[in-house]
Amino acid sequence: MQEVYSIMDVPLIGLGTYNLLGKECTKIVRAALEMGYRHIDTAHSYANHKAIGKALKTHKRDSFFLTSKLALEEVDPKNIARSVELACSRALKELETQYLDLYLIHWPDRTLDISAIFASLDDLKAKGLIRHAGVSNFTIHHLQDLARDGYHPDANQVEFHPYLYQKELLAFCKEHQISLIAYRPLGKGELLHTREVQAIAKAHEKTAAQILLRWLVQQSIPTIPKASSFAHLRENFDLFNFFLTKEEMHKLNCLNKNKRFCIADHPEFLY
Ligand SMILES: NC(=O)c1ccc[n+]([C@@H]2O[C@H](COP(=O)([O-])OP(=O)(O)OC[C@H]3O[C@@H](n4cnc5c(N)ncnc54)[C@H](OP(=O)(O)O)[C@@H]3O)[C@@H](O)[C@H]2O)c1
Repeated sequence: MQEVYSIMDVPLIGLGTYNLLGKECTKIVRAALEMGYRHIDTAHSYANHKAIGKALKTHKRDSFFLTSKLALEEVDPKNIARSVELACSRALKELETQYLDLYLIHWPDRTLDISAIFASLDDLKAKGLIRHAGVSNFTIHHLQDLARDGYHPDANQVEFHPYLYQKELLAFCKEHQISLIAYRPLGKGELLHTREVQAIAKAHEKTAAQILLRWLVQQSIPTIPKASSFAHLRENFDLFNFFLTKEEMHKLNCLNKNKRFCIADHPEFLY
């Protein structure tokens, strides 16, 4: 059996909740927790904190890992510390919890003072409102900018799958003890049709989704596939009873096309 936690105690398989709303969201999060999922990923911009809070409140707080993200629209550049604390407090209230396990700056933006915003996340950590402070969609350059100013994010959540195998970023994160968390691991479903992935799936009598997710967990990269059916939830969690061979891992590594499925409203993540 494979380890189920990565470096920073992030469970290797979590539930992404982008596009899950209202009652459907509550139902899916509840089902995921009952199935054994221990990481729920949300964000201010997903507008589902309250729906998730309803599902979380019946579970012991230390039994799950909760991530949310600060939208830069929530930050008042003239009053960074105060506005970041207000945003976090609002998230906690909506999620009906005392703390977040991980709070991320959702996107980089060089027109803002990202180091000052990150410093405010560190303050939240000192106050016990969050356990870990991190970033999302940051490139090596953004991480280097933070490091130059003396800041160290615990995690960087980025798009990562065989079509976007960000090897250099992964190596940089490992070297600097930043947990890389892979989002959109199924390419929003589009990667499931890849011929090579389907061939490997057939050989293992698994599904294409399980192969894509296994490729990540076998590298100890935590990931957060979104699912809105019980069958998908179950399938995406059932990954710890098979291994991909070295050759299969290599085949998947070679599919890289630097292809992003996350459309660049925020083109900064390209450099
Ligand atoms: N930090 C960021 O900027 C950022 C950006 C994008 C995403 N994210 C996070 O990453 C999470 C995952 O990304 P995503 O939701 O964009 O895409 P994804 O997880 O790559 O793909 C989700 C799609 O795959 C389908 N699917 C899931 N499991 C399946 C299975 N076993 N078999 C067949 N189809 C399956 C889902 O269908 P059903 O819904 O029908 O089950 C849905 O259409 C998000 O929910 C969000 O939490 C973060």
